[in-house]
Amino acid sequence: MTDDRDPKALRRDWMRTSTLEGRVALVAGGGSGIGEAIAHAFAANGVRVIVADLRPDMADGVARAIKAEGGEATAVGMDVCKQEDIDQALAKAESAYGGLDMLVNSAGVIAPQPLVDADLGKWRSSFEVNVEGALMLARSALQLLKASPVASVVNISSLAGGRAYANGGSYGTSKAALIHLSRTMGVEWAEHGVRVNVISPGSVLTPLLLANMTRETQAARAERIPLGRMGAPREIADLAVFLASPMASYITAQEICCDGGLSQALMVQKWQSDS
Ligand SMILES: NC(=O)c1ccc[n+]([C@@H]2O[C@H](COP(=O)([O-])OP(=O)(O)OC[C@H]3O[C@@H](n4cnc5c(N)ncnc54)[C@H](O)[C@@H]3O)[C@@H](O)[C@H]2O)c1
Repeated sequence: MTDDRDPKALRRDWMRTSTLEGRVALVAGGGSGIGEAIAHAFAANGVRVIVADLRPDMADGVARAIKAEGGEATAVGMDVCKQEDIDQALAKAESAYGGLDMLVNSAGVIAPQPLVDADLGKWRSSFEVNVEGALMLARSALQLLKASPVASVVNISSLAGGRAYANGGSYGTSKAALIHLSRTMGVEWAEHGVRVNVISPGSVLTPLLLANMTRETQAARAERIPLGRMGAPREIADLAVFLASPMASYITAQEICCDGGLSQALMVQKWQSDS
C-alpha cells in the first residue's frame, strides 16, 4: 500500500506525533531502581508522570526529585495486587492530568529458593506481584489507554524469564509468565490501538540486585557479559521510553532483551585453536 500524502506533511506529522511532550505515564514500581529511572526519563521528555509504588515514601521522593528538576510528577501509594489501590492511582491520573497514554509496570519481587523445598507462600507471592499485578493494572488502565491516540504498555520482565538458574524457580517462572502475558496483551489489545511490549533486562545495578548479590558474585556476573559490565537503570529507561513512544509505533507484542549481550553469548572468551 502506498501513502500518497505530501512527504513534507508526513514528516511534520511524524515529528509531532513522535514527541512525548505533554503525554501522561503511570510508572508502577516507580519508587526505586529501574522504575525510578523510567519515571525520570519520561519527565525529561516532558511527560507528566504518576509515580506509583508500594512504598508511598519512595514514590514521593521520586516525584519530588522530578519536580526539583523542573518536571511534572505526582506520587501515589499503590500495591499492584490491590484493585482499590489501582483504581485510586488511575483516578489520580484522570483527575490530575486528564487521562493516560503510557503505562509501565516495573513493580517486581524476587524470592530466591530451591525448588525441592520451595515455600509455596513465596512462590505464590512472586506470581501475585509479578504476573497477576501486571494483569490487574494493565486491564484496569485499558479504558483510559483506549482513549489515547498513542497508547502503550511496557512491562519489565527479566532475562530469568527465558533462562534458568538455580534458586531462580519462582522468580524465573513468574517472569516467563509475564513475557507471555505481555505478548498476549499485545495481540489482544492491538484492536484498541494499544501497543504492549516487554523488556527483559539482564543484570542491572539497582537495590533489588544489590540486595541479592555479593561483590564477588557481581564481579563474576560482569565477566560473563559481552559488554563486560552490568547495566545501569538509565539504560533500561531509555529503551522503555523508546518503546512507549510513537517512535516504536510498529512494535507490539515483543520481548526485547537489554542485557549487554548476555542472552546471546555462548562464551565471552575468544575461541582459539591450538595450532
Ligand atoms: N535489577 C535487575 O538486575 C533486574 C533484572 C531483571 C529484571 N528486573 C526487574 O525490574 C523490575 C524493577 O526491579 P529493580 O531492580 O528496579 O528493583 P527495586 O527493588 O529497586 O524496585 C522495585 C520497586 O517495586 C516496588 N514494588 C514491589 N512490590 C510492589 C507491589 N506489590 N506494588 C507496587 N510496587 C511494588 C518496590 O517498592 C520497589 O520500589 C522488577 O520487576 C525486576 O524483577 C530487575
